[in-house]
Amino acid sequence: MHAIILAGGKGTRLLPLTEELPKPLIPVAGIPMVAHVMNSLIDAGVTELTFAVSHDTYVPLKTCFSDKYKDVNISYSIEDHALGSAGAVGKACELNRPSRSFFVVNADVITSASLSNMRSIHDSLDARDSLVSILLHETEVTGDFGFVELGAGRRVQKFLEKPVPGITSSKLINAGIWIFSERVIDRLPTDNFARVEETLFPDLVKDEGGLVGITDDGAYWADLGTPEALLAGARYMRHSTKPLIHESAVIEVDAEISNSEIGAGTTVSSSTIISNSLIWDSVTVGSNAKIYDSIIGNNVIIDENARISRAVIGPYAQVSAEFYVRDRAMKSEKRNRN
Ligand code: GTP
Repeated sequence: MHAIILAGGKGTRLLPLTEELPKPLIPVAGIPMVAHVMNSLIDAGVTELTFAVSHDTYVPLKTCFSDKYKDVNISYSIEDHALGSAGAVGKACELNRPSRSFFVVNADVITSASLSNMRSIHDSLDARDSLVSILLHETEVTGDFGFVELGAGRRVQKFLEKPVPGITSSKLINAGIWIFSERVIDRLPTDNFARVEETLFPDLVKDEGGLVGITDDGAYWADLGTPEALLAGARYMRHSTKPLIHESAVIEVDAEISNSEIGAGTTVSSSTIISNSLIWDSVTVGSNAKIYDSIIGNNVIIDENARISRAVIGPYAQVSAEFYVRDRAMKSEKRNRN
């Protein structure tokens, strides 16, 4: 089976972390975020993968995965300008046209739901009717999601993209994991911006009822697009409160590290406290520094005695001891680069 992973976004909500590392490659539980997505797809029988990328995300993704991941062949569909979910899938299908139903997945969603199960349900539906199946997740949270009202036989009766509060009582949201029939490919643009959430999906509901919802039965699901969601999602994916520390990191014995990840080549000095945080590669944490609920990008220097809480620190920044960083993003710096 074929899958297209949408990986061409800008990741603005995770700036400044995404200035240098595209969101799909952000480490989560020790591997790139998108590798979790790829593993779920492989478990569901995917053998051909196309990354739909921008020029900015192409090089880092290709450097990381090249043309193969496990036994899966990878191709790259490169967009000259943002095409949105519809244009990105249309263009990717021009490059490598699936001959049967195929997955389309956002690169930044993780789920414990079985995509194999989703595929079986999709395959069991009447092929004439089910043009697109969407994985649905039930949530109490309101906000920037696509909400779905389901009718009989899993038919989607309403697809409401980011509705104003009160317009629907449905708690089922579009989880960003879809199976497309090959018969919808020719309805997608290949060179202009369009989002399936605003075009194809509402059209399918209106005209043919060909949009089908498959609920995830209470599975864990998260969109890792914000710092808070990234911290929570990584916590879930580690499946343990034990810190995940790269073998090349150097940690002083009296450093207190809990519920956190420490990347390659990072050094943590004595009397530090690191709690519920993601510390990326080659970071220097000075003695007696305290870091809570934060994400620290590659090559950051944190001086001794610094205090950091609920912050996002961009690559190569330096946090000085006098500085108490709280509830803010700190820009990357050009320091020490070669
Ligand atoms: P924000 O700027 O923080 O909203 O992040 P984003 O640009 O990644 O947008 P969003 O989270 O809405 O995107 C969901 C998924 O679609 C991500 O995996 C993106 O990489 C991907 N994506 C968004 N826009 C495009 C696009 O124009 N082309 C492609 N190929 N992928 C896209």
